[in-house]
Amino acid sequence: MNNPFRDEPSTRQRPEPCTVVIFGATGDLTHRKLVPALYNLTVDGELPPGMDIVGFARRDKSNDTFREELREMNQRVSRQNPSDNVWEPFSRQIHYHRSGFDDEEGYHSLAEHLREIEQIRGGCPNRLFYLASAPEYFEPILGHLRNAGLHQPADPTSWSRVIVEKPFGTDLASARALNQAVARTFHERDTFRIDHYLGKETAQNIMVLRFANAIFEPLWKNTHIDHVQITCSEDLGMEGGRGGYYDTAGALRDMVQNHLLQLLSLVAMEPPVDLSADGVRDAKVNVLRSLRPFNSPQDVARHVVRSQYTGGSILGSDVPGYLEEDRIPSDSTTETYVALELFIDNWRWAGVPFYIRMGKRLPKKATEISVHFKKPPGVLFNRQDADGRENELVIRIQPDEGHALRITSKLPGASLRMESVKMDFRYTSSFGKASPEAYERLLLDAMAGDATLFARRDEVETAWAFIDKIHSAWNDTSHAPPVTNYPAGSWGPPEADDLLAKHNRVWRRL
Ligand code: BG6
Repeated sequence: MNNPFRDEPSTRQRPEPCTVVIFGATGDLTHRKLVPALYNLTVDGELPPGMDIVGFARRDKSNDTFREELREMNQRVSRQNPSDNVWEPFSRQIHYHRSGFDDEEGYHSLAEHLREIEQIRGGCPNRLFYLASAPEYFEPILGHLRNAGLHQPADPTSWSRVIVEKPFGTDLASARALNQAVARTFHERDTFRIDHYLGKETAQNIMVLRFANAIFEPLWKNTHIDHVQITCSEDLGMEGGRGGYYDTAGALRDMVQNHLLQLLSLVAMEPPVDLSADGVRDAKVNVLRSLRPFNSPQDVARHVVRSQYTGGSILGSDVPGYLEEDRIPSDSTTETYVALELFIDNWRWAGVPFYIRMGKRLPKKATEISVHFKKPPGVLFNRQDADGRENELVIRIQPDEGHALRITSKLPGASLRMESVKMDFRYTSSFGKASPEAYERLLLDAMAGDATLFARRDEVETAWAFIDKIHSAWNDTSHAPPVTNYPAGSWGPPEADDLLAKHNRVWRRL
């Protein structure tokens, strides 16, 4: 079995041929991410010959229409130059299966359809079911797959697996219910809960940076680190009809419960006992289990800021406020920005705050982690601060993927003046090629049966248990901390600055 942290991509074995069945085949995710990812894997020669893709959706359309729609989108979004020579044979293996998600008969005919495809292809009838529909259909789809016997491998040598897209629940209770529905249908080893941040090259590199270098790990603890910041900033608002979903989610559910807590786990975890999927996930889940829970609305008010954007301007263009966006109720109190001060109550991190912030309609799109080291002793060069900056290690998740280490240096000249300088590593200049898209890596791993980069059941539930406490404080009408505002195009509300300022810290300027 392949392991993402152990195997060079070039030494990875290609997965066995399989059929990928996508529920929600006419949706944006399929068009913009999943099919282009499979196409790019084909261009790179990562997929075995004889892969099939079945799109399952309600709308009436022919194979040809479906293929043409996918081709047009692939031309626009593909990471690699789309070529007819690759697309033509690739698209002949794309099939459309029309059925409603609630239509029992549609799953029996899917079973028949799969048998026909597999007979033509030959070899093992492996199947990978991808739940990319609206989340309310996840459980019905699982039930119908079970009733049609599709959850079991078609023969003793093959496999049947499921990938579940986000959102994986909206709170602990719904995540548990979904986990139970999944567990009734597929083994945990065949279950792949997507968090596409784990598929990002830079997120995978956090472990390599920490555990393949001797110089960081001895400093990676409360004796040397003052605090850690994780920032995810987006310039987009509610374009493309996202408002309907987003208003029921908000920044905390949409990005913190999953992506940002995953990044936090990778930064804060202990070295795993080995690089197996469970070795890595055990280490990550221990971080989540050590998060200090918020126990009262007052506690939440002290450590969590929520805010919503008003109208403003981004890169010279005027943009509407959240309440004026498409599909947003005019009295919505959903947060589009959240900042948190978290503590991990374990031996390594006792006393070190982790600051996390996420916001829509901020000045630019960027995700990064910065590790802020303690200042050196106030003697010799440090009687007066060099320029007031501590050493910082910045891990740029996206864009401009790379790392930067900020250190203090002497300015050339006879007098002793010091300045903070940066040692910078950029993926594109060092490796000269673009990283694969997260979905490419994750699809390939699911086909290879490697769950290292997917969330495990206990990980998802532990993260929800933590997030639920914040939501219940927000729902407590008598003590709920207020939803503040920030103008679109700014770096968020002043309350988020205060969160750090009260301890003489500032958010890193991205
Ligand atoms: C999704 C969220 O999971 O991640 C979106 O639902 C967000 O709101 C997106 O914009 C960000 O992903 P990326 O890869 O563009 O950072």
